[in-house]
Amino acid sequence: MDVFQAITGRRSVRAFKPDPIPEEIINRLLEAAQWAPSAGNMQARDFIVVKDSDVKLRLAEASWGQYFIAEAPVIIVVCANLERSAQRYGERGRSLYAILDAAAAVENMLLAAYALGLGTCWIGAFDDDRVKRTLSLPDHLKPIAIIPVGYPGRQPRPTPRIPIDRITYRDRYGNPYFR
Ligand SMILES: Cc1cc2nc3c(=O)[nH]c(=O)nc-3n(C[C@H](O)[C@H](O)[C@H](O)COP(=O)(O)O)c2cc1C
Repeated sequence: MDVFQAITGRRSVRAFKPDPIPEEIINRLLEAAQWAPSAGNMQARDFIVVKDSDVKLRLAEASWGQYFIAEAPVIIVVCANLERSAQRYGERGRSLYAILDAAAAVENMLLAAYALGLGTCWIGAFDDDRVKRTLSLPDHLKPIAIIPVGYPGRQPRPTPRIPIDRITYRDRYGNPYFR
């Protein structure tokens, strides 16, 4: 699939068929995520692949009752590995780069999933501590996104975007960027 087609065609999917996802496909998603850029190529992100029904339900509960998450056959939790980035960048690595490294990986994963005919949704509304307890995450792993992955149960509606002109500031005719 053309990259622009993937970027503009992807939508958040919030209903999933129960059909299982082959392990090779899950690996392709993880590989796509891992090819995302990262600060200093430290790749400060780790992935937790969840298939257990009980754990999926607890993740849905930790996400303030977004139960559609638990319908998906697989959930991938993307975590920022704070210490991996801090090793090189100290506080900026811990508080910023690790999170950006993880976020870039998330977007790659969503696009790759769409290109493979799968639906995903970036879930960011959750109780960090509950997710950490549910997955027994060590302190240096901060959950960034919970991503349910499955074949779409229904087609999502298109979502609007703010026109580019309203959010872009250019240097034109000698005018300052902001007036
Ligand atoms: C940081 C972040 C957090 C999000 N959290 C949630 C969430 O908790 N639940 C949800 O249903 N969608 C969540 N979304 C998905 C957005 O609602 C969705 O991307 C947006 O409405 C645009 O729709 P689209 O993805 O279909 O283009 C989140 C997206 C981002 C980037």
